[in-house]
Amino acid sequence: MLRVFLILTALVGVFGDVIDLGCNPGWYPNGGYCYLFNTNKRVTYQEAADECNDYLATLIRVESQNEKQFINTTIPDFTSDGFWTDMTDLRFDGTATGTGVWEWGGYEKVDMSTIAWETYPTNNPKDSCGAINIQGMFQNWKCDQRLGFICELDVGPDGGCPFGWMFGTDTCFFFSNTSDPSQLLTWTNAKAMCASKTATNGDGTTVNGKLVTLDRPVDAVYIANEMLEIANSTVMYWTGLIKTANSWAWDGGDTYNAGYFHWAKEPDHINNNEHCAILKTDGKFSDQNCNKQMNFACRLGTTTENTDYYMGCNGWTRAGHKCYQIYDGPKSSWTDASSKCQSLGARLLKVESLDERDWVEWQLTDEAHPNIYWSGLNDQAVEGTYRWADGTLANSSLIRWNQEPNSWFGDEDCAGIRPDGGYNDWDCFLQLPAICEYTGSPCPNGWVSWTVTSTVCYYVTAANHTFTWDEANTFCSKDMAQSGQMTPTLLEVNSQAEQTFINNLLTKQPLNPKSWWTGLNDVKHEGIWTYPDKPNTPANLAVIPWNSEPNDKLGNKDCVMLGWSGRYMVMNCKAKIGFICEKWPYGINPNKASTRSVSSFLIALVLSVTFILH
Ligand SMILES: *[C@@H]1O[C@H](CO)[C@@H](O)[C@H](O)[C@H]1NC(C)=O
Ligand SMILES: *[C@@H]1O[C@H](CO)[C@@H](O)[C@H](O)[C@H]1NC(C)=O
Ligand SMILES: *[C@@H]1O[C@H](CO)[C@@H](O)[C@H](O)[C@H]1NC(C)=O
Ligand SMILES: *[C@@H]1O[C@H](CO)[C@@H](O)[C@H](O)[C@H]1NC(C)=O
Ligand SMILES: *[C@@H]1O[C@H](CO)[C@@H](O)[C@H](O)[C@H]1NC(C)=O
Repeated sequence: MLRVFLILTALVGVFGDVIDLGCNPGWYPNGGYCYLFNTNKRVTYQEAADECNDYLATLIRVESQNEKQFINTTIPDFTSDGFWTDMTDLRFDGTATGTGVWEWGGYEKVDMSTIAWETYPTNNPKDSCGAINIQGMFQNWKCDQRLGFICELDVGPDGGCPFGWMFGTDTCFFFSNTSDPSQLLTWTNAKAMCASKTATNGDGTTVNGKLVTLDRPVDAVYIANEMLEIANSTVMYWTGLIKTANSWAWDGGDTYNAGYFHWAKEPDHINNNEHCAILKTDGKFSDQNCNKQMNFACRLGTTTENTDYYMGCNGWTRAGHKCYQIYDGPKSSWTDASSKCQSLGARLLKVESLDERDWVEWQLTDEAHPNIYWSGLNDQAVEGTYRWADGTLANSSLIRWNQEPNSWFGDEDCAGIRPDGGYNDWDCFLQLPAICEYTGSPCPNGWVSWTVTSTVCYYVTAANHTFTWDEANTFCSKDMAQSGQMTPTLLEVNSQAEQTFINNLLTKQPLNPKSWWTGLNDVKHEGIWTYPDKPNTPANLAVIPWNSEPNDKLGNKDCVMLGWSGRYMVMNCKAKIGFICEKWPYGINPNKASTRSVSSFLIALVLSVTFILH
C-alpha cells in the first residue's frame, strides 16, 4: 500500500547527484520493472512473497513476451534449484489447494503463452506454487518447498521512470549521452529517436517519448535546475520547440507559453534558417539550424494519471487547501493586480494562518522570486485598518511589517510583500508583480468529500465498474494513486459518524451495484479482521453494523462488503462487486496539519515544492 511514496522517498535519497534512475543496486531493469534474483537463501513460497512485499514488490509475474524473453536471457546468470514466482493455483484465501487454475497474485489468470511449463503441472493438488527453473521453465511445487525467488517491482511512469531516464516533476526526462557521438542527430532524427523510446504504464498501455517540451512552469523550473548537473556548458540538446509560420510552437501542439522559459538573447534567426530550438545547459533556449547534429532531450508524454499532478490546482502550486501563483511579471498597480487575480478566479494573497505565512515566506526565499509582490493587504477604506482584498480584516499577528506601515504623505494604502516576508505599504499605483491565490477543491474530480474535523475523500464505483476484492484493492492503491499523495485504500470506517455519512452516500447511488467492497478482510487469519494498510489495523469493529454477521461457517468468505442498505456482510473475495476507495485530500497530513512538515508521505509534495523553489 505504501508503494508510491516509498519509491519517491528512495528517489529523494539519490536525487542530488544520480541522474540514472531506475532500479536500486542489485535489481535488474526491464521494461518499466526492476527484478531482484535472490539466490542467497532458500525459503518457502510465503516467506519469499513476504520478503518481496518488504521491498514493496511482488514475486515475479511473467505477463508478456518481453518479460518471458528477459527471464530467459537473465536467469542463466544465477544458480538455484528454482525461483518462486507469484503464480499459484491456491484459492485466494490460501485455505485450500489445487484449483488447477493458475493465477498471478491470486487473481490474474496466467496467460499460458507467456510462460513455458517444464512438464505440464503435476496432478498432485498440493503442488500449488509455481517456480521457474534455471532454464526459465515453470514447475509447480509444494508451497513449503525451499527455493530462491525473484521479486518484481513496477517502476513504470506512475511510480518512477524507465531505466536511464530521470524522474522530474511528475514525468520522466531523457538526455542523450553526450559521450556517444552516435547520439548526435538532426532535429528530425532526434524526434524519431524520442518517439522510439517507450515506457509501459501501470495499466499496460504504452507511452511514447517525445522531444522535450516545457509547456508547464513546473517542467521549465525543473529543467533549468537540473541542466547544470547534466552536462558541460557546451552541450546543446534538441527540444520540441520549432518555428512554423513565423511563430514558435511545441511540436505536437502542447500549449506554448513563452513565459515558462527563457531565450538566451535569442532567437536571432541567423540567415533566417534557424527554425528549431536547442536547450543549453544554463536552461535557456536558442534557435538553431534544424539540420545540425545535436544531442537531444526527450520526455514521456504526460499520462492522464499525471494531469492531476497539480493536486487540483490546475497549474498553480498547492499548499494545504489553497493554490498559489507567484507572478514575477508583468507589473501593475494594486487595483490592476487585484483585477487580474479576480479574472483568474483568484484573489491577491491573503494570509490566514501562521502556517500559511511560513509557507509563503519559504516560497519567497527562492532566488527565482526576487521581487516585491502585491499582496491583498490594504487600508484604502479606513486609514490604519488593514484588510485583505476581499474585505476581511487582517490578523495583525500574521503580518510582519518591515518598519512600516509609514503611510508616507498618507498615500500609501497598499502593502507589498518582500523577499524576506516583511510587508511595506506603498502607493497603490506603484507597479509591482503580484501573488494570486484561491481555495482549491480538497478532493480530485469524481471523489466526494466529507469534513468533520478534517476532510476525507471517497470514491464510489459506478454501475459497470465491478472488481474482485483483490482487484479493487489494487485499483484503489495503484490506479487511483497520485504522485505525492498518500496512497488511497479501500474504505476503512473508523467512526459512527463516518459510517452514517457513507450510508447516506450509498443511498444516493443508483441501485446497481447494490454492494461495495470495503477494506475489511480476514484473508490472512480467519476471524481476525484487518484493513490493507497498517495504521487502521486492527479494525475498529465496534463501529461496524454487522447485523448477524460475520457469518462464515465454511471459512470461504474473507472479504467484507457494504450493502446499499448500510449493512456489512462477509463475502467470497472473488465476487465482482462495486467498491469504495478513500484517501486524504490534497496536501493533508493526517498526523500533523502543517503543510511544511516533511512526513514520509509528503516527501513528494516537498519534492515538487523544492523544484519550484530552485
Ligand atoms: C530461451 O531461449 C532459447 C534460445 O532462443 C530457446 O531455445 C529456449 O527454448 C528459450 N527458453 C524459454 C523457457 O523460453
Ligand atoms: C555513453 O557513451 C559512452 C561512449 O559510447 C559509453 O562508454 C557510456 O557507457 C555511455 N553512458 C551511458 C550512461 O550509457
Ligand atoms: C566535461 O568535460 C570534461 C573535459 O572535457 C570531461 O572530462 C567531463 O567528463 C565532462 N563532463 C560531463 C558531465 O560531460
Ligand atoms: C491571529 O493569529 C494568531 C496566530 O495564528 C491566532 O493565535 C489568533 O487567534 C488570531 N486572531 C484572530 C482574531 O483570528
Ligand atoms: C462504464 O460506462 C461508461 C459509460 O458507458 C464508460 O465510459 C466507462 O468506461 C465504463 N467503465 C468501465 C469500467 O467499464
